[in-house]
Amino acid sequence: MNTSTNQTLSPSTQKGSDKQFFDDVMTGLQATPKYMQSKYFYDAAGDKLFQDIMNCEEYYPTDCELEIFSEQTEALANAILAGGDGFDLIELGAGDATKSSYLLQHLLDKKVDFNYLPIDISEHVIDYLNSTLPVTLPGLKITGLNGDYFEMLKKAAADSTRRKVVLFLGSNVGNMPVENAEEFCAELRSHLQVNDMALIGIDLKKNPKTILAAYNDKEGITKKFNLNLLERINRELYANFDVSQFDHYPTYDPETGSCKSYLVSLKDQTVNISGSEPVHFKMNEHIFMEISQKYTVEQTNEMAGAAGFKTDGHFYDKKRWFLDVIWIAE
Ligand code: AVJ
Repeated sequence: MNTSTNQTLSPSTQKGSDKQFFDDVMTGLQATPKYMQSKYFYDAAGDKLFQDIMNCEEYYPTDCELEIFSEQTEALANAILAGGDGFDLIELGAGDATKSSYLLQHLLDKKVDFNYLPIDISEHVIDYLNSTLPVTLPGLKITGLNGDYFEMLKKAAADSTRRKVVLFLGSNVGNMPVENAEEFCAELRSHLQVNDMALIGIDLKKNPKTILAAYNDKEGITKKFNLNLLERINRELYANFDVSQFDHYPTYDPETGSCKSYLVSLKDQTVNISGSEPVHFKMNEHIFMEISQKYTVEQTNEMAGAAGFKTDGHFYDKKRWFLDVIWIAE
């Protein structure tokens, strides 16, 4: 996202990503019920708030997956290496690559022949990885790709004929409804060849209170994270949301495994967004903000099969709250 503001243009007349952001925001706010796309949480302020979420006491997924990568590095590497030496390791949504760095270091120590291709929608993330990882992981062959997951995956696939291992960590697959996740896995499979691999991080169903607490931290960081998207709209689309008049409402339904968050309007109010009709909110009207879907192991096995993968291995943290699963393309 280009955050530089151009006061002479209204967002509705700007080109590229600003225009896309404007269009997506308006589509969501003009729908019934209203919704936002959670991918827009991650501007610079949102990136920082997500770091704070990962460090807060109640948010367990990052700690669980970090435990898997730091304590079962060799077993993970061996599962990957069972498919042979000489491969491209592609990471979708690499972020700061903290978890994958354990694996990368181990593969380098074993003198494995591989290229690391992190893909991220954030240009900032890719610049950071391209410049820091060769220093912290000497000898690493890295080509960071900035852009959409599948576009970049296609690009990476076109540039190489080697075996591919795709990492999709952090329960990012949970950021879509089950049906979309199934489509995502099938599309992922369509970009791979038989015997290519995927290593997917999935947050599992567990005590509902544990899950809800992770999305309703006492310090209110998750609330700020949600409200930041309204502030981002104010900043980038010249809107006038009064964020003090919206409350954060997280829910978890143990039956469906869907953890969802909403913002609720605390009064009848009207918000102006540059270049559009005013948006009206009724008192207690909600905006759907995000889904963080939780799965059972059985569900993930079914999802693999339906998408054309065979489940090859399961890696759990000690509490069995989180799963990193290895799938092989059939
Ligand atoms: C980055 C999508 C995995 O859903 O757990 C954390 C985002 N939202 N707290 C998640 C998030 C609120 C996170 N993912």
